[in-house]
Amino acid sequence: MLRAVSLLAVVMLTGPALARDAIDVVVDVAKPGPKLDRHVFGQFAEDLGTGLYGGLWVGKDSPIPNTRGIRNDVVAALKDLHVPDVRWPGGCFADEYHWQDGVGPAAKRRPQPNFNWGGVVESNEFGTDEFMDFVDQIGSEAYISVNVGSGTVEEAANWMQYMTAAPDAGWGRERAANGHPTPYRVAMLGLGNESWDCGGHMSAAEYTFELKRFAKFVHNWNQQRATQKIAVGPGGPKTEGYTEAVMKTWKDNKDWDWDMDGLSLHSYTVGKWPPSWPATDFAEPDYARVLKETLKMDELIRVNSAIMDQQDPEKKISLVVDEWGAWYAPTKGSHPGFLQQQNSQRDAVLAALNLNIFSRHADRVRHANIAQMVNVLQAMILTDGPRMVLTPTYHVFRMYVPFQDATILPVSYAAGSYRVEEFDLPRVDIIAARTQDGKIAVSVTNVDARRPATVQIQIRNAGAKRAQGETLAAPQVDSINTFDNPKTVTPKPVSAAIKGDQMTLTVPPASVTVLTTQ
Ligand code: AHR
Repeated sequence: MLRAVSLLAVVMLTGPALARDAIDVVVDVAKPGPKLDRHVFGQFAEDLGTGLYGGLWVGKDSPIPNTRGIRNDVVAALKDLHVPDVRWPGGCFADEYHWQDGVGPAAKRRPQPNFNWGGVVESNEFGTDEFMDFVDQIGSEAYISVNVGSGTVEEAANWMQYMTAAPDAGWGRERAANGHPTPYRVAMLGLGNESWDCGGHMSAAEYTFELKRFAKFVHNWNQQRATQKIAVGPGGPKTEGYTEAVMKTWKDNKDWDWDMDGLSLHSYTVGKWPPSWPATDFAEPDYARVLKETLKMDELIRVNSAIMDQQDPEKKISLVVDEWGAWYAPTKGSHPGFLQQQNSQRDAVLAALNLNIFSRHADRVRHANIAQMVNVLQAMILTDGPRMVLTPTYHVFRMYVPFQDATILPVSYAAGSYRVEEFDLPRVDIIAARTQDGKIAVSVTNVDARRPATVQIQIRNAGAKRAQGETLAAPQVDSINTFDNPKTVTPKPVSAAIKGDQMTLTVPPASVTVLTTQ
């Protein structure tokens, strides 16, 4: 196993010897770019495995401390991430979900088999009102995916009424009768999910036919919060036809009485299907292979943005990467349909690289949702009964909070190269932004698993003498946090002096560092 130990000590070592090999970075404060929308840090919580049941929802009578059935430890941890929106109930599950099975008194809820995810019985105890309570408890917003595959326009329209109508109007009366008189706010509405696959195996033409009907008739009744409508888009190179068809449908119908705001893109770092890369106990070439694969996100966004530009040069429609992350072989002994996997320092680096890619496309990518929130795929949090552990990916999302709604600043540097076997990667990956409170935030990811990196960052007119933040490094690239050892991968405080316009710092191998000027 590759060792990257004793490197935490290197963070502040910035002497002249190291500076000789330093990477020069210039942050151009004078040329602010687009806003990095906070919704790029959105999350996905599907009814899948223990993502909801056990992970979020334990029920009111559980010995696990909870508020109205939702676990307090998970809520407290998620609050620190400032999660902007949560996508629910799927995923593939959404196209088999019938919302009326999950509202009203618990005894009247109708259980259903979860055909997509292990065939286990979904009790529907956690339904719309419980989801809205959860979103409220973590201070987030709802991104609802409606059932286009096996549902009807009427069913979806009624669901929106249930969520957003006044207590004396339409299905809003039902919601009020269930104890929730105040209309909910639905920030985003997904019109189907992967309609080219689990969402109904539709051709692009079949989908755009459905899109027009759902977009026109599924109304938001709550004037307090506009709802953005997100259409199904591509899920990899083979579904690019969707981007053209959906964008053309939008353009051709632009003056009609329906609209859409986003086009979804799904892309997992998976290699070949079915997922077989191990989440743990891997060596350096596997670290490099996975990161090389994840960098393909940039090209995927580039290709689809270019297609979108043809119909929408003003970039009105957002490219919504509402499923992304690493998808590995399931944890040995776990239910294969539950998509349970561990999360290592490699995933922390992978998360930072993807967030950086989104930031470089911030003019088009204004929304993304990592898959998924708890216990599923590249999760923030893992739970086991009453126990909870924060993953390395969680720490990256928390460290990146200053970038939410920040203004991207151009950064120039020669990244250098990190090579392992046939995998050639940029050695470092750096972004910078002006935060909402006027500070400058810089993120430095050292991809190189062997060498620390010294960066000399020039920030003209930074107006500060010091930057502070955290570094996330680990003993090994495959280090993980477990219930027994939850702090193996934990951020450490770091600070750097700004002398003149220059800040020099040395970061450990395979690490993510975020600093903000003080
Ligand atoms: O995130 C797991 C699954 O991956 C989702 O349900 C589906 O949309 C995608 O294929």
